[in-house]
Amino acid sequence: MKLKSFSKNGLHGQISVPGDKSISHRGLILGAISDGTTQLHHFLAADDCLSTLNALKDLGVPITRKNDFLTIEGQGLTGLKRPTKSLDMGNAGTATRLLAGLLAGQSFNSTLIGDSSLSKRPMGRVQTPLQQMGAKIELTDGHLPMTITGQKLHSIDYQMTVASAQVKSALIFAALQADEKSTIKEFLPTRDHTERLLNKFGANITTSDDGYTITVEPHPHLVGQDLTIPGDMSSAAFFITAASIIPNSKITILNVGINPTRTGLLKILEKMGGKVKIINRSQSDGEPTADLEIESAQLKPIKITSKDIPDVIDELPLVALLAAAANGVSEVTGALELRVKETDRISTIVTELQKLGIKITELTDGFIIDGRDDWQIQDSKLDSHGDHRIGMMLAIAALRVKEPLTLENEDAISISYPQFFDDLKEIEDADSN
Ligand code: S3P
Repeated sequence: MKLKSFSKNGLHGQISVPGDKSISHRGLILGAISDGTTQLHHFLAADDCLSTLNALKDLGVPITRKNDFLTIEGQGLTGLKRPTKSLDMGNAGTATRLLAGLLAGQSFNSTLIGDSSLSKRPMGRVQTPLQQMGAKIELTDGHLPMTITGQKLHSIDYQMTVASAQVKSALIFAALQADEKSTIKEFLPTRDHTERLLNKFGANITTSDDGYTITVEPHPHLVGQDLTIPGDMSSAAFFITAASIIPNSKITILNVGINPTRTGLLKILEKMGGKVKIINRSQSDGEPTADLEIESAQLKPIKITSKDIPDVIDELPLVALLAAAANGVSEVTGALELRVKETDRISTIVTELQKLGIKITELTDGFIIDGRDDWQIQDSKLDSHGDHRIGMMLAIAALRVKEPLTLENEDAISISYPQFFDDLKEIEDADSN
């Protein structure tokens, strides 16, 4: 597809972004294992979450959907049914790992499969600790297909070896079904939506004051809820970045989730001299939300290291773009996890930004970018490589460029944000109205 190129008037107007992807997956799963009906408002109806929805239907959970409104007839923690076919998780890494923890403790067997990208992502990270709880999980060379033989599980005191909310959440779902109380220790805190939401549904999950240790009481009585999901910070991030790097912009994004485990981009932008105002702070079913006002700014370079990574993990392609527009040398290190996302994002970021003439050097665990205002285009044919976040980052990059650019494999964007280009158009067109 052709990408929209430079607009000298900048971006203007007010938009809302779709529901949070992480919370939509979790809301579905928790609704399924609770007693009674759960209603989810502002659910993210994108490919990834629809994979979770279909997998739960295959596990015997009645779910109806009208656009972004879901009704889930919960079956309780022990009421899921043996699926009659393999559960097709599509591209959804989060759902695969969370369900691995849940299904490990059920009384039936199941098999999880996925698309070619998901089938390359490491699953040993959930298999190893779940096996320590007595789970029986077979992988194919560390990857999907995953065959789970449902077992009675025992509790665990586990020290995490990767900073991953998916692994932590898999263990929490297994721990809910274990014989005793479990603890999970993180070395860097990761997104805590599972803990917050489970407590909302009636579980007893506590986090130590320092934020590193999570304690899970087993066999809670989970009760269906009526929930509204906040706007996804990771989707808002594309427009936050766009308004920051496209001169003469000023936009407002309404009702965005600002859970502190997700706001790394805002902290980084502040250090870079970005102009973001957080206003109208509120709460939506246990998650903090706010409206964000963003204006373009001349950015300074930044250095970020491993401790800064978890709360900005999905926004690192955008950090690269911000750095490319800042004057001076920025450095991102300690981000090895980027290599096991929907694509090897260190490699895809470097390959694609080099096409735009951006001076970027690949490191094993990150990249160095020598940012400047004028980008000398080397190749106008950009490629998402089948990775939604790379595709959207490139569409934003194109807005700074006068030459016409195209994007290959743009379909991937529907994995997390099917209406991305419609929402972008709202703020592109706002000034010409
Ligand atoms: C997610 C956790 C992160 C993130 C992913 C969503 C979640 O993955 O990158 O997009 O919802 O738990 P890791 O747990 O692998 O870091």
